[in-house]
Amino acid sequence: MVKTKVLYQCVQCGGQSSKWQGQCPHCFEWNCLEELVTSGSNNRFQALNKKSSLVRINDVEVNEILRHPTNNHELDRVLGGGLVPGGVTLIGGDPGIGKSTLLIQALASLTQNPSSALNVIYVTGEESIEQIAMRARRLDLEVSDLFAVSEINLTQIIKMIEKEKPKVVVIDSIQTLFSDELTSAPGSVSQVRECAAQLTRLAKANEISMILVGHVTKDGSIAGPRVLEHIVDTVLYFEGEANSSYRLIRSIKNRYGAVNELGIYAMTEKGLKEILNPSAIFLSATSFETSGSVITVMQEGTRPILIEIQALVDESKQASPKRLSVGLENNRMAMILAVLNKHLNLSCHHHDVFLNAVGGVKISEPGVDLAVLIAIASSLQEQPVPKKTIIFGEIGLGGEVRPVVRGQERIQEAKKLGFERFILPRKNLPKKAIEGVELLAVDDVNSALNLVFN
Ligand code: TYD
Ligand code: MG
Repeated sequence: MVKTKVLYQCVQCGGQSSKWQGQCPHCFEWNCLEELVTSGSNNRFQALNKKSSLVRINDVEVNEILRHPTNNHELDRVLGGGLVPGGVTLIGGDPGIGKSTLLIQALASLTQNPSSALNVIYVTGEESIEQIAMRARRLDLEVSDLFAVSEINLTQIIKMIEKEKPKVVVIDSIQTLFSDELTSAPGSVSQVRECAAQLTRLAKANEISMILVGHVTKDGSIAGPRVLEHIVDTVLYFEGEANSSYRLIRSIKNRYGAVNELGIYAMTEKGLKEILNPSAIFLSATSFETSGSVITVMQEGTRPILIEIQALVDESKQASPKRLSVGLENNRMAMILAVLNKHLNLSCHHHDVFLNAVGGVKISEPGVDLAVLIAIASSLQEQPVPKKTIIFGEIGLGGEVRPVVRGQERIQEAKKLGFERFILPRKNLPKKAIEGVELLAVDDVNSALNLVFN
């Protein structure tokens, strides 16, 4: 008889427990355990019966990874060149951010490319086929070679894929699918995990490029987060601010390419437009000097992008002053405020501090630290930073300014856009002077502050 085992899995961390508890014993979150049924007949375990043989790694034949470029350049950039046969990609993002729009556009251009005209199936569990057709028509997409099916039953989807043998399959979204083998509702951790695992096996066995769309929960992670991220080969996040038309797609895991690569789009009435040269889009339009505003260059993946950091420091009327940061990590801001206090004697203990990265971009690299520090100091002292100045560098706890990766590229990019004065870590100083550019190297936050404001 097939043994069925019941386990409980945490929605937040993916940790398992043998019995239900109010609190997850792994991450200590409350009310987050869900039933997970693992059946003994699961073919995941049948592989164990196969004979395994040892192979010397040198003897393994390695072929160049084949890729199908989608010809959507920004998507190809984050994928590392295109879709990989047998590769499973998870695209996560808030509802309404534009995941379905991006995919229909990418699939249309993929099927239109004669060199990679592939058999492509779009499985939709959220929208009707009519809605998808309507969108494709409104966006003027050529979709004569694109097939769609509205289905949420995993068994049916697998049967159809086995029969049609497509080369690319999109599942929109993984949270709507359900497997008959489990009793839990679609969207629950065990369903999402089981469906993703079965689809992944199918993709690997049949060399299908599979794209799974996943909704993000309110804390910003894909439902069943850890679980899904382990299963798939590539994880992309689609992000953007509600009030900005810019959309960013970022790779946070990629077995076939670089991570932290960033693709940029603008959402228009004609769908997502690729922004191939994004350098200046994250600068605000003000032409006058204002205190608290600093331009820096961040390096996301292989691209340097100019971005404006704004700080507003204001006397607080409350006992515990406000700290709010949009686009920058709160912990990083707290560290920078401590450095300001300890090493520069600039205290914000009685001030509210608001930080903003213009354009709704989320900054995940420390190279912008020095710019954030100068922006806060500039607002606190009501002293604007001179125009055409670029500031970058990582800050250490001792107040030292550390070098950043790809310093030369950052300088070149900013120079292209007309910036003339750079405040940068000493180790990033180019060996040769650059014509028309003033490079001011600093070792610590103190000298940086003096250089900016004197
Ligand atoms: P959608 O792709 O349905 O989002 P998701 O699949 O991530 O839930 O995008 C829907 C949003 O995009 C919707 O709010 C309207 C907007 N949109 C445009 O602004 N222009 C367009 O051409 C399209 C197709 C959508
Ligand atoms: Mg959608």
